[in-house]
Amino acid sequence: MSLPRVTVIGAGQVGATTAHLLALKGLADVVLIDVVDGLAQGKALDMMQSAPVEGFVGRLTGTTDWAALADSRVVVVTAGLARKPGMSRDDLLAANANIVGPIAERIAAGSPKAIIVVVTNPLDVMVALALRRSKFPKPRVIGMAGILDSARLRTVIAQRLDTAPSAVQAMILGSHGDMMVALRSSITVNGKPLTGLLPAAEITQLIDRAKNGGAEIVSLLKTGSAFYAPASSAVQMVDAILNDRHVVLPVCAWLEGEYGLRDVCIGVPAQLSAQGIERVVEMPLAAEERSALHAAAEQVKAGIKSLANIQPAGARA
Ligand code: 2OP
Repeated sequence: MSLPRVTVIGAGQVGATTAHLLALKGLADVVLIDVVDGLAQGKALDMMQSAPVEGFVGRLTGTTDWAALADSRVVVVTAGLARKPGMSRDDLLAANANIVGPIAERIAAGSPKAIIVVVTNPLDVMVALALRRSKFPKPRVIGMAGILDSARLRTVIAQRLDTAPSAVQAMILGSHGDMMVALRSSITVNGKPLTGLLPAAEITQLIDRAKNGGAEIVSLLKTGSAFYAPASSAVQMVDAILNDRHVVLPVCAWLEGEYGLRDVCIGVPAQLSAQGIERVVEMPLAAEERSALHAAAEQVKAGIKSLANIQPAGARA
């Protein structure tokens, strides 16, 4: 049986977990690439040895060789530094730009028809960089953040109300950072508006906890950042692409006038299918949500602008 090929770049915690989930779900043959010799090879071999137990048929291979990128339907970019306690995602900008920029060029050369899913932080700026350096059409470069941030919100609400996380519908848009925008009036639990179930102050607290969800995990782990929920979120995007699902998910997309924004990429609902982003979905926003989205976009634009001042380092992953 032949499965589509998905390449995951970076065999750290997010990359390895993404690779394993893709295999476990039977979605793809997975190639894991990392510049650290042995890391991708060792992890892929270990995962492959779970196949007889788990019953998946896909192949997992690990390599340092960029030629392995060839013929990928999707390339998931996880390479880069993770936050340490006290750091913001923006603190990673210069270091990770020097990793993601060259990788985007390698993807363009090695797998020119692929769709790129960027996971590396600071997410929104890294998506803009990958777009620029790959020169891919805009629907084929997408960032993972909104699914994760929304999942964090859905989880804390479900825990508070002692219900199933999947019964909670909530969406977080905007940048993957301090300026993310939770659409509070449209949160529902088992179809009922959350605003009728909890006092406003408590909803604010839950939203704040979700917004700080990444930092909360960094401060607990001390030596790394979250990876299980980020990997699940990236895999949901890959699944939507490989299976042409036409599903609307919050992702980081380049905007060309949607929500009154252009020349920036930011978290918005978008329909994902085999071609990548089929369309950005314009939901009605409350005035304060719209202005928060615009403020987040200004911050991302400043980050994109700052890319011009970064001294290039040698290509690495
Ligand atoms: C997070 O929010 C790593 O940015 C990622 O946990």
